[in-house]
Amino acid sequence: MARITVTVNGVRYEHDVPPRLPLAYYLRDVLGLTGTHVGCDTSSCGACTVLMDGKAVKSCTVLAVQADGSSITTVEGLAAPGSLHPVQEAFWEEHGLQCGFCTPGMIMAAVQLLDRNPSPTDDEIRRGLEGNLCRCTGYHNIVRAVKSAAAKLQSQAAD
Ligand code: FES
Ligand code: FES
Repeated sequence: MARITVTVNGVRYEHDVPPRLPLAYYLRDVLGLTGTHVGCDTSSCGACTVLMDGKAVKSCTVLAVQADGSSITTVEGLAAPGSLHPVQEAFWEEHGLQCGFCTPGMIMAAVQLLDRNPSPTDDEIRRGLEGNLCRCTGYHNIVRAVKSAAAKLQSQAAD
C-alpha cells in the first residue's frame, strides 16, 4: 500500500491505496464519486475524464499514487450542490446527451476546452473533444451545448 494525499473537489483526503489502483477507481470506490464513469479502461473513450491540477486527464490511466499531492475536480465538484456549472446547464438545455454515460467526461473535457479557448469554432470544439466518444448523440447537440456554454461563460465574465 502507498499513502496518498489528494484534494478532491476542495476536500483533502489521505488514504493508503494499492500502488496500481487507477485514479478512476479511487474516485469511484474509495471516495464514492461515481459521476466519473469507466467505459473502456484503456484511455480510449474519455468517460473517466477529470481535471488534475486544472488539466483534463483520463483517470482510468492515471494511478492514484500519481495523483498524490494534486488537486482533482470531478463532475460533482464543478458547481455547488443544487446548482449547475454553465457547461452542465448548456448540456441540459441543448440536449447534449441521451444515455448520459459519456456526459461527465464530455463536460470535464469541455470545461478545459473553454478554459483554453473561450470562443471556439465548431471545428475547434470537435477537435478539442476528439478524445471523448459518444455512442448516442451523433455529437451535433454536444457541439451546440459547448457553443452555448461558451456564450454563457463570456456573458458571466462580462458582468
Ligand atoms: S474509461 Fe478511461 S478513457 Fe475510457
Ligand atoms: S449520451 Fe450516450 S454515450 Fe453519449
